[in-house]
Amino acid sequence: MALGRLLVRLLMVVASVLPASANAGLAVGFYNESCPQAEDLVLAEMRAIVEKDKTLAPALLRFMFHDCFVRGCDGSIMLISRNGKGERDAIPSYSLRGYDEVERIKAKLEEVCPLTVSCADIIVMAARDAVHLSNGPRYAVETGRRDGKASSDFDTNNDLPPPSTNIVDLKTYFSVKSLGWKDLVVLSGSHTIGKAQCSTFAGDRLYNYSGKGVQDPSLNKTYAADLRQACEAGVPDDKTLVEMDPGSPYTFDLDYYRDVYSNTSLFVSDQALLDDQWTREYVARMATAASLDEYFADYATAMTNMGRIEVLTGDNGEIRKVCGAYVD
Ligand code: HEM
Repeated sequence: MALGRLLVRLLMVVASVLPASANAGLAVGFYNESCPQAEDLVLAEMRAIVEKDKTLAPALLRFMFHDCFVRGCDGSIMLISRNGKGERDAIPSYSLRGYDEVERIKAKLEEVCPLTVSCADIIVMAARDAVHLSNGPRYAVETGRRDGKASSDFDTNNDLPPPSTNIVDLKTYFSVKSLGWKDLVVLSGSHTIGKAQCSTFAGDRLYNYSGKGVQDPSLNKTYAADLRQACEAGVPDDKTLVEMDPGSPYTFDLDYYRDVYSNTSLFVSDQALLDDQWTREYVARMATAASLDEYFADYATAMTNMGRIEVLTGDNGEIRKVCGAYVD
């Protein structure tokens, strides 16, 4: 066969086995040779962490979202800014938890494979296991990310959508990270686990919708009355926590979509999924007809897509000994 034709055939074979948005440098089983214990060790640590405090499963899932959307999945959420202007210091990070747990997992990995597994990959593996330990899917994760060296509160404020975001803006926040409407609606389903502070939704949804001093007319009235019991009007309350999926806040299931579909979701950004034809159809199907298996498969794909955002691989970035390093 002529060399040219052989090359074309080869390229076609390679293209057919690579997913459309594959990221060079990331691979499932990246640590198979260099640290074969890595994935088992992360799971064992996560199991111990969640057994002691089940609220850390949702916390660590959210942690990946905050890492990946800000400067890509590069572990930069862990960096500590000397001048108090890092990602950790930004308002959207105030209630974020998981720093100590990522550091704990990193320390264990340093004992068996020094300077090998990145903080960025630990965050992605911990999120995967958080989902699994909440009865969600345990999908294969791509690894091979390296850690970034910079952190800025400006990026966090700029790149993370606030809970008051409408559907048009949500799609923009996601599309600038190369994620589509399906990633948006599927990943929003992460709100099937965890809790939120009254301060994140009470203003928009209960007391001052669109700055008009009224309740969000789209919110189910019975649900709104329950929420009003929990969250008082007036001062922003960041102490009282409300289950985002009432009744099953630690079980990864389809209830989130039933909540959204019946106007009993918490944030403007959840409710907003009903304002676009595609996301609305997805919510409706998940709420009424879909199987858990279908959602789990979609979730694995969407988490893989999120895990590919602006990653550092190869010779870029670094592998640190400690994730919470100080930066200027
Ligand atoms: C679509 C845009 C999103 C918005 C506007 C949003 C907003 C929020 C807000 C305001 C909270 C409550 C924080 C608090 O009160 O402490 C929250 C919690 C949470 N979010 Fe999101 N989120 C979004 C997407 C995501 C994604 C993509 C994931 C994961 C893949 C995620 C996972 C979680 C989890 C698990 C919690 C509960 C955390 C806990 O209980 O500690 N969110 N989100």
